[in-house]
Amino acid sequence: MKILGIETSCDETAAAVVENGCIVLSNTIYSQIEKHRPYGGVVPEIASRNHVAKLPGIIAEALESAGETYDSIDALAVTYGPGLASSLLIGLAAAKTLAQRLDKPLIGVNHHEGHLHSIFMKEDTPASEEVFPMLGLLVSGGDSSLVLMRGPGHYELLGSTIDDAAGEALDKAATVLNLGYPGGPIIQKTAEGGDPSAIRFPRGLDSVDRGKWIYKYDRNLCFSFSGLKTSLLTHVKKLDHPPEGDELRDICASYQEAICEALVMRTERALKKFPVKSFSCAGGVSLNKILRQKMQSVSERTGIPLLLCPPAYCTDNAAMIAGAAYEKVRMGVGLVEPIDVNPNLRLTDWE
Ligand code: KG4
Repeated sequence: MKILGIETSCDETAAAVVENGCIVLSNTIYSQIEKHRPYGGVVPEIASRNHVAKLPGIIAEALESAGETYDSIDALAVTYGPGLASSLLIGLAAAKTLAQRLDKPLIGVNHHEGHLHSIFMKEDTPASEEVFPMLGLLVSGGDSSLVLMRGPGHYELLGSTIDDAAGEALDKAATVLNLGYPGGPIIQKTAEGGDPSAIRFPRGLDSVDRGKWIYKYDRNLCFSFSGLKTSLLTHVKKLDHPPEGDELRDICASYQEAICEALVMRTERALKKFPVKSFSCAGGVSLNKILRQKMQSVSERTGIPLLLCPPAYCTDNAAMIAGAAYEKVRMGVGLVEPIDVNPNLRLTDWE
């Protein structure tokens, strides 16, 4: 079954053709990073205007490089949330129009579900019974969550960030340090050769007063990155010069270390609490090589196999959306066409 996926939840305009959920025939992405770089973050109106301009060409290119046509695909899939409303609307409008015109089914996919599925975007993908139940760490520009998946399509949110996402914390730090956008890859590069123990940045929630807890998730499995960002800002303000050279390398290495440790610490806690056959890491921040090393060490320590997302599918893409849609079809769910976008869509079990 060949599915044409469409993804426009944020600042990537993407389309892909995927066969049987994991054979990626094409994965076309127009990244708008250059358009948003001057602002140090994504500007919603610029994002949606670029989706309007680019999406038709990106869909045509995805079909052509897959060697497919509108007639030869079997279904369409589209992200309908969470994300920027004005961006999601462009993808959904395009997908609905095509589905109606072609008389083919349209499957709505949750963007986070796409990221969680992205670890399977390879041909030697393991069988469900080998990997589920699985613990998923989802770390992207907009979310940081620990999700227990008892089987495909079963999501139990164990913990989440109570403020910034890990990627957002990296992006904001790069702005504070005048390094550019997006922050994750630049901080990783600048941290090379730096001392990760030079500055003890907070790991969030564990370090300071335990105050009143108003969230429904276990505090020990939740993240907080806003204090870390403030701590960096305070550190930089105290210096009487803009950091550079070894000093800058140490700051970046220590900041990256704090984020990775905060993520890995909670992952390990969840692994102790919930017996699983495997654990996984997906989303843009999962490209980070220190995070990958630390997750690998957890796997070696616990003996629980780790599934990492292939680098090509870590940041936003439409292959993961088409892949997750196939899984829904395989499980016999999700063929109800999404009526509208939902910017705050939550992960829920498939019925
Ligand atoms: O998954 P993604 O495209 O965003 C959402 O779906 O929200 O991830 C983008 C995020 C950005 O915050 C970016 O700074 C971060 O992923 N990122 C990285 C790396 N490459 C991208 N973070 C850490 N290390 C990297 N190498």
